[in-house]
Amino acid sequence: MATTEIIKRLFIAFAKQDTNEFYHQAEDLINLEKRKKHTIVARELKEALYSKPILNNGNNGRRYKSNILIPRDTEKGFPLLEIREYDIDWESLVLSEKTKSILKQIVKEMKDSEILETYNLRPKNKVLFCGKPGTGKTFSAQLISSVLHIPLVYIRFDSIISSYLGETATNLRKVFDFISNEMWIVLFDEFDIIGKNRDDHYEHGEIKRVVNNFLQMLDNFEGQSLIIAATNHQHILDSAIWRRFDEVIYFELPDKEKRLHLLELYLKPMQKEDINLSEFIEKTKGFAPSDLRMMCIEAMKYSIINDHNVLKAEDIDFALSRFLDRTDIREGQMENK
Ligand SMILES: Nc1ncnc2c1ncn2[C@@H]1O[C@H](COP(=O)(O)OP(=O)(O)OP(=O)(O)O)[C@@H](O)[C@H]1O
Ligand SMILES: [Mg+2]
Repeated sequence: MATTEIIKRLFIAFAKQDTNEFYHQAEDLINLEKRKKHTIVARELKEALYSKPILNNGNNGRRYKSNILIPRDTEKGFPLLEIREYDIDWESLVLSEKTKSILKQIVKEMKDSEILETYNLRPKNKVLFCGKPGTGKTFSAQLISSVLHIPLVYIRFDSIISSYLGETATNLRKVFDFISNEMWIVLFDEFDIIGKNRDDHYEHGEIKRVVNNFLQMLDNFEGQSLIIAATNHQHILDSAIWRRFDEVIYFELPDKEKRLHLLELYLKPMQKEDINLSEFIEKTKGFAPSDLRMMCIEAMKYSIINDHNVLKAEDIDFALSRFLDRTDIREGQMENK
């Protein structure tokens, strides 16, 4: 159908206040642009269509159709993925300049995919995030989804690796079918389960089959979505897995300068007494950003509950000592104290 015909139908649907027909025609127009390989135009139209609840379509401002069918596990019926939307900006992410610039490059490539296409090139769309817990792997996937205005499809890898191994291949197939149809930011979180299970009680041959299955689907994936896999056990992933990703990013623990930056960021909501934050830099060596965040929240709460009016150094000291106690409990050192 020609563009003008669709626009005419859109106008008629609007005049009749026929929301369903309006969406139907709008989707047709987007698909037409897609077929013409006008991917950016198609994406922008889609964004415009789902960005605000202009029409009462029950979408509540979501950027995807509210009646979208989420694939489920055949055996137990639980959903295999979740669609999530975030509002995070680059300033909230504190990483080394190098790591941040690699992330920005991925975003740029996705944005300019149409230009790359004219040169027969594709943006990087299979990325592996590794690094210690709490360093921002999941957070960065959420951020990428925010800045690109593309919803995040979140998949907990261990929920896919069904206890019925036979079902796993079916589950994987369903997930890949789902993500191939639209443009999503896809996060396979806790990805290491694929490596871990190999020596576990699972039958070796079976799990190997699952791994190969996944790798094959990853190889054959030709959709426009950006696939991110995140793990904090990168050492257990073998080279067959590593090779499949066109970018591997290591999320480092923050150095002194970044720790100061994070403390300032997390303590921003509260007015402070004359605190020398750099005093806490040495004391928080080895802390991940999520640890610093937890400590800062504790400090602010302690200050508020105890009517200190402003944040004092003693509030941070208290939160820090609580945090260090936690670490000791975890490492079983309380008995030696
Ligand atoms: N680099 C960072 N800059 C700013 N905030 C961060 C950063 N890393 C983590 N955070 C904060 O800590 C929270 C938890 O981090 P996140 O879930 O991204 O960790 P992760 O690397 O995915 O850890 P895990 O390996 O345990 O899944 C985030 O929601 C964010 O608030
Ligand atoms: Mg995570």
